[in-house]
Amino acid sequence: MSETTTRAPLRGAANMSWGMKNRLSRLIQPDGHCFFLPIDHGYFLGPTRCLEEPAKTIEPLLPWADGLFVTRGVLRAAIPADCGVPIILRVSGGTSISGHDLADETLVATIEEIIRCNATAVGVSVFVGSDYEKQTLENLADLVSMCEGYEIPVMAVTAVGKELEKRAARYLALACRIAAELGARVVKTYYAAEDFETVTNGCPVPVVMAGGPKCKTDLEVFEFVYDGIQRGAIGVNLGRNVWQNPHPVAIMRALYAVIHEKATPKQAHEVFQEIKEGSAA
Ligand code: 5RP
Repeated sequence: MSETTTRAPLRGAANMSWGMKNRLSRLIQPDGHCFFLPIDHGYFLGPTRCLEEPAKTIEPLLPWADGLFVTRGVLRAAIPADCGVPIILRVSGGTSISGHDLADETLVATIEEIIRCNATAVGVSVFVGSDYEKQTLENLADLVSMCEGYEIPVMAVTAVGKELEKRAARYLALACRIAAELGARVVKTYYAAEDFETVTNGCPVPVVMAGGPKCKTDLEVFEFVYDGIQRGAIGVNLGRNVWQNPHPVAIMRALYAVIHEKATPKQAHEVFQEIKEGSAA
C-alpha cells in the first residue's frame, strides 16, 4: 500500500540471495518500513482477550498489515488461505503461562511444515538473560540452519529474561546483537525510551518493535512507535495495542500513517479520532 517507488536499502541485505530478498520484500515495504500484526499470543497465553476468534479479530485489520505473525494451528484453523497477507510462522513454543518457566521453549515445527504453510518468514523467541538462554539461542541457530537453505528469513523475537526485566536499552541491544550474530534476518525487540539508538545501531539487521501490554492512552502508542522509528526501528510487530483497543480499525489505520505515511503522533491521533468518530456516526 506504500506509494514509494524506489526501494529503501535494507540493513544486512547487501549479500542476500534472490529468494531471501524476495521474501523480505513482501514483508518490508519499498519505503523500508513494516507493520506486522501478531496474533500468536495463544501459544502460551491461551484464549487471549479479543483474540478468542482470531479470524473475526483480524479481518477488518488486514488491509493495513504487511505480515501476520501466527502459529500453524491458528493459521490452519482460522485464517483463510486466500487472506493475501504474507505469513510469519511462529515456530517456537512448548510452554504456558501456568508452567514452570516461559523461557523453556523448543522448536515446534519442521522445515517441511514451514514450507507446507507457505510461510514467507518464521519467528522464534530467544530469552537472553534467562535460565534457558543457551537452549533458546540454540533454537534460533538451528532454525536459521534449517531455513537458510530454502531462503526463508528468520525473525528472532527477543524476550527479556529475569535480569533484563527493566528493558533497558543496553540489555535489549545485547539480545538483538546476539540474535543477528546467530543469523536472524530481522530482530524483534521492545522499545526503550532511553538510548534506543544503541539497540538499532548495534544490530546489523532490521529491528522491529513489539508493543507489550496495552498502553494507558492511544497517544502513548503513537508516540513510542513514532519515536522508535525516528531512532532506527523499521516498524512494528504490534498486537495487543491494536486488537485490544476498543477501536481496532482506527488505531491500525492511524499507526499505518505513522509507519508508512510519516505522520506525527499528533497527526496519527487526528486520524484515529476521525475514523473512531466516523464509525460511531
Ligand atoms: C507474543 C509475541 C508477540 O508477537 C509480540 O509480543 C507482539 O505482540 P504485543 O504487541 O501484543 O506484545 O511474540 O508471544
